[in-house]
Amino acid sequence: MKTVIFYLSATGNSLYVARFLQSALGDTALRSIPEALADGRFAVEADVVGIVFPLHYMGLPLQVEALLERLEIAGTPYLFAIATCGVPYIGTPFVDAADILTQKGHHWNAAWYLRLVSNYLPLRDTAADWRIRIRAWLAERKLRKIAGAIAKREPHRTWQLLQQPCRRLHREWKERQQRIDENFHCDTGKCTACGLCERVCPTGNIARPDGHPVWQHRCTECLGCLHICPTEAIDYGEKTKGRHRYRHKDIAPKDLLHHFAPKEDRRL
Ligand SMILES: Cc1cc2nc3c(=O)[nH]c(=O)nc-3n(C[C@H](O)[C@H](O)[C@H](O)COP(=O)(O)O)c2cc1C
Ligand code: SF4
Ligand code: SF4
Repeated sequence: MKTVIFYLSATGNSLYVARFLQSALGDTALRSIPEALADGRFAVEADVVGIVFPLHYMGLPLQVEALLERLEIAGTPYLFAIATCGVPYIGTPFVDAADILTQKGHHWNAAWYLRLVSNYLPLRDTAADWRIRIRAWLAERKLRKIAGAIAKREPHRTWQLLQQPCRRLHREWKERQQRIDENFHCDTGKCTACGLCERVCPTGNIARPDGHPVWQHRCTECLGCLHICPTEAIDYGEKTKGRHRYRHKDIAPKDLLHHFAPKEDRRL
């Protein structure tokens, strides 16, 4: 059973899920969504096609939406989606994705939320270590069941609560997105000009004219730059100061870096 999984991941939760499924299912290729958007390789032919992504403002990250719109799926494979998140069930990612797929003559066979750890640091600090360990254990248990269901190509529906208010909040967030990175700043006293923030950015939004990051106003607010900085030189307004940076324990910083040349707008 040939499987292709597209993934988007800033702090490793979704990449961990994609890798877990790759090892559980066998014969599985992983494809980074930012790199697929950069390469323009949208054709996919497989028995199973999955997409794993973080829940962003109760909906789809912009790059996931862009990928779904462009994806050219051959035949009628089993299609599944997994949204990793801090708070499951509140949002509209799967109905929104279904709307895009329906226009292309496809539909989801299965969708799941997978609760891990929220990386949305402007809202609240990262969960305590003991909570992270419990969540990881519960997530792995659920993932084993998910892998079993995918292997048998079982259908699975997931509740999505508070759809109307969530859609409104998600739309308002998208409208703010272009200039959302005005909230970022870099403490040049702490910055060692290592370049990790530039290389983790899925949209090519960070330039470093004098070694330190300068944001270019095509951000999707994934927060990858803020979390990966080894010296915690990056903050988002005042809210993230002193809060704990996060990365999934099984994912190394190098696994999150992208390999593409700068281009004008890599969000879409
Ligand atoms: C901009 C932004 C918005 C987010 N919104 C939500 C949300 O609405 N609900 C939720 O449960 N988690 C939310 N999160 C948390 C992420 O979905 C969660 O931490 C995810 O597992 C991160 O995956 P990654 O490590 O693969 O990037 C948000 C994170 C970001 C950066
Ligand atoms: S990751 Fe941090 S230390 Fe490295 S260049 Fe960016 S801001 Fe500077
Ligand atoms: S600049 Fe924006 S899109 Fe790029 S890594 Fe930072 S938060 Fe993500």
